[in-house]
Amino acid sequence: MSTHSKSGKLTPMSLAGRRGGTPVVGLTAYTAPIAAAMDDKVDFVLVGDSLAMTIYGESSTVGVDLDTMIRHGRAVARACKHACVVVDLPFGSYQASPEQAFMSASRVLMETGCDAVKLEGGTEMAATASFLVERGIPVMGHVGLTPQSVNTLGGFKTQGKDEAAVRKLVADGKAMDAAGCFALVIEGVMEAAAREVIAATSVTTIGIGASAACDGQVLVIDDVIGLFAAFRPKFVKRYASILGEVETAIATYAEEVRKREFPGPEHIFGAGR
Ligand code: KIV
Repeated sequence: MSTHSKSGKLTPMSLAGRRGGTPVVGLTAYTAPIAAAMDDKVDFVLVGDSLAMTIYGESSTVGVDLDTMIRHGRAVARACKHACVVVDLPFGSYQASPEQAFMSASRVLMETGCDAVKLEGGTEMAATASFLVERGIPVMGHVGLTPQSVNTLGGFKTQGKDEAAVRKLVADGKAMDAAGCFALVIEGVMEAAAREVIAATSVTTIGIGASAACDGQVLVIDDVIGLFAAFRPKFVKRYASILGEVETAIATYAEEVRKREFPGPEHIFGAGR
């Protein structure tokens, strides 16, 4: 059975089949031009609720609402012809009940044209994940450091540090696997804990600050290109320093305007006639 769509686009099912295979590459995107730039280079594009921090300057992901996720999800889905597009369900849009989750997730799928949703949580969210999957909504799970729970976790802290925490993490991973998630993000955990989750599950695992043994990796695009400067977690590798280039471009433009060097004749209609 082909796991690509007819158009050759990667699907949640194709990612589910990558357990133990070629590593899965994921990145976040929030806008159409950035999504288009990565579409043929990655396997999935995540419209993460991290946009609350990267785009809207908030201090956590808790404040973003469903309409905002849908707006960005639609822009990204429109730009992606190859990568599988996953949109985060934001805080407060799915935790109350499986029915609430279905209403939110179905809106996301219908209004954005994305391929799947992601939700955070382990054993406590497994019934909700399976409710969605049974009703035709592909779900990517997310365990470990779950940023929407920053207020009960006591900050963005590495998880899986003691035996009880590892046991809980493994139970969370197994529950989301059994619920039918097509992939499972493991974020911000000790390497040994991540390896135990991988060993205890058969789902495609996607690491972010977890382990190189995961079936794939995902990072926040703003971290990768050096656009987000508020803080830099240990697990981030910067492949470019875009913010420096942006600042230089803006400073040069401002200087040229002040010196009347810009606009030059080549930028003015009918100049010098
Ligand atoms: O919101 C997000 O960007 C995420 C990734 C960090 C996995 O959930």
